[in-house]
Amino acid sequence: MMKLDQVVPFGRSLDEYIHMFSLGAADLQKSILSVADGPASFNAEGTAKGYQIQSCDPLYVFEADEIRDRFYAVLDDIITQVENTRDSWVWQYHASPSELRAHRIEVAERFYADYTQGKKAGRYTVGTLPQLSDSASSYELSLSSHFLFLYSEQFDTAFHIAAIQEMLRVSAEARIFPLLALNQRRSPHILPVTRHLERLGYQCKIETVDYELQPGGNEMMRVIKAN
Ligand SMILES: C[S@@+](CC[C@H](N)C(=O)[O-])C[C@H]1O[C@@H](n2cnc3c(N)ncnc32)[C@H](O)[C@@H]1O
Repeated sequence: MMKLDQVVPFGRSLDEYIHMFSLGAADLQKSILSVADGPASFNAEGTAKGYQIQSCDPLYVFEADEIRDRFYAVLDDIITQVENTRDSWVWQYHASPSELRAHRIEVAERFYADYTQGKKAGRYTVGTLPQLSDSASSYELSLSSHFLFLYSEQFDTAFHIAAIQEMLRVSAEARIFPLLALNQRRSPHILPVTRHLERLGYQCKIETVDYELQPGGNEMMRVIKAN
């Protein structure tokens, strides 16, 4: 089981997801599975707007106050690290480290306010890549924000291939953001993963998006089943 003291439960908002994944009006009407969704407020905000969003993450074995306590325990440390490396980040979407801190708190509180009722409604389910419990082709779109490719050192190429194939088993299209690893370099898995998926008959496209916090981290991978 996941250990909470090894997790940094930082989440992003609906607006950030829209930018990271270039989600247009038609995309937002799709049934969406957001894997590794953690304490993002994408589901809470999207559900309030009538969107069909399902989130999964191993983190959801925990209760709201456990995740909340962990968030506030690591918040200042993380923001201090960001302040100390201020020039290594792009300050556009968030104007400064203090604005980033305020956004992350806003997102976290939005998530906690929705989590318990959302869990009861089945919108937040425990799910761990590379094996999800959903049945095949349940969703039109699946998203992975800040998990695949970001943790390239912790998860190897085979894990990434299996995880993306799993996303495509349960959805018609998968989008992944960012393509940079934690060291801010392009993930070494991109090329072998792309080659492997294309050999299996998938189409992989890399697109520039208008969201960038890690310098050069403004690209998203879109994978679809080729006909
Ligand atoms: C940095 S957070 C990203 C949260 C959210 N997607 C966002 O962008 O705001 C990474 C998430 O990956 C989840 N995670 C870790 N291992 C996982 C696995 N094997 N399968 C799915 N999610 C996993 C963690 O629990 C955590 O919530």
